[in-house]
Amino acid sequence: MKILVLGSGAREHAITTALLAEEAEHEIVVAPGNAGIAADVAVETGLDPLDGAAVAEYVIENGIELVVIGPEAPLVAGVADPVRTRGIPVFGPGKAAAQLEGSKTFAKRIMEAAGVPTGRAVRAATLADVEKALDDLGAPYVVKADGLAAGKGVLVTEDRAAALSHAEHYLTQGGVLLEEFLDGQEVSLFLVSDGHTVLPLSPAQDYKRLLDGDAGPNTGGMGAYSPLPWLPETFVDEVIDTVALPTVRQLAVEQTPFIGLLYCGLIVTERGIRVIEFNARFGDPETQVVLPRLVTPLSTLLFAAATGALSGMPRPEFALDTAVTVVVASEGYPEAPLTGRPITGLEAAAEVPEVTIAHAATARDASGTLLATGGRVLSVVARGTTFAEARERAYEAVGRIHLEGSQHRTDIAARVS
Ligand code: AMP
Ligand code: GLY
Repeated sequence: MKILVLGSGAREHAITTALLAEEAEHEIVVAPGNAGIAADVAVETGLDPLDGAAVAEYVIENGIELVVIGPEAPLVAGVADPVRTRGIPVFGPGKAAAQLEGSKTFAKRIMEAAGVPTGRAVRAATLADVEKALDDLGAPYVVKADGLAAGKGVLVTEDRAAALSHAEHYLTQGGVLLEEFLDGQEVSLFLVSDGHTVLPLSPAQDYKRLLDGDAGPNTGGMGAYSPLPWLPETFVDEVIDTVALPTVRQLAVEQTPFIGLLYCGLIVTERGIRVIEFNARFGDPETQVVLPRLVTPLSTLLFAAATGALSGMPRPEFALDTAVTVVVASEGYPEAPLTGRPITGLEAAAEVPEVTIAHAATARDASGTLLATGGRVLSVVARGTTFAEARERAYEAVGRIHLEGSQHRTDIAARVS
């Protein structure tokens, strides 16, 4: 199949790697990609993934048979719509359904209409609203930017002054939601959706905070592991029945079908499963630990979802081993990453058994030197029969990589090893 993947991160590298691993041979183009992706497949650096008309034109001119939209920005910008209108299968919701990720107020409304369990939340338009909601909900305070904020929109804090100032900042940028604090383990569950039927992938856990022991600021994600051995066997079915299907059905009723990846961000509380967020795309870095273990061909799932053909398909199969990923980030991430520094040691790192390296933000300069170009730079992925083995391999590989000032957590998957 001729497949166009939009995006430039480790998630898109992991998607590309999974497509390349299939028995079927695909012709894959990634726009714009990064240096790691460009080493594996063709990249189209001149195609702007946010320009729907340009993407649709490219797809028609190049005979693309499936478009996979990786990041949230093109989804929320509505890039899927002009492509779908031209009759080309797209894995990724249109602008209306992508609001599930793009607007927390929209997501709360859908959850309420569908009876999906989530934290109690109040939308604030003024600082006075914020103060009242903080008092009503109590500490710890959970303050969320209503729109996209690249992983920086949520603040969880005991510090009322910090909560107020975070809210004040985002009040001027599309609004703020105050939410009840939910206590428990977090789970990311991905479901492939064709607008009516959903099929689950293997659950994963992300480490959102920058520092060991879940200290420091929230980030896009510093590491992940999959599967989650501590989940009850009924967990996935419960999420399908109480969260994913009601949500997809509600969006279908509203004539905005959700075609793509429904990312359920969940907390398992003492009172049951609660949704903390939906995303409209594969999670990053969770994708890097979910897709390597997927046995069912990824393209089959994505194409079936994009063409309304998931009904009657068996659930995706996964290998029984484990996967761990550790993110290597630039100095200064997440506030102000220092970029442009050379990265060395990747070949030695990739020689560790069962290790692959997904590039998140890399480029080569004119002399061919590999440089870090963003906050999260690499996602080092290792598989193992046990978590202890996968974790040891991942950290052995991370230790072989050099990037001046780089940061990584040392406790990824420690709780299951
Ligand atoms: P989000 O971007 O909504 O996933 O939020 C980022 C992180 O903030 C989550 O991964 C949680 O660790 C935390 N978080 C979000 N909402 C809540 C909540 N209601 N209670 C506790 N922690 C939360
Ligand atoms: N890892 C969290 C996200 O992809 O939103």
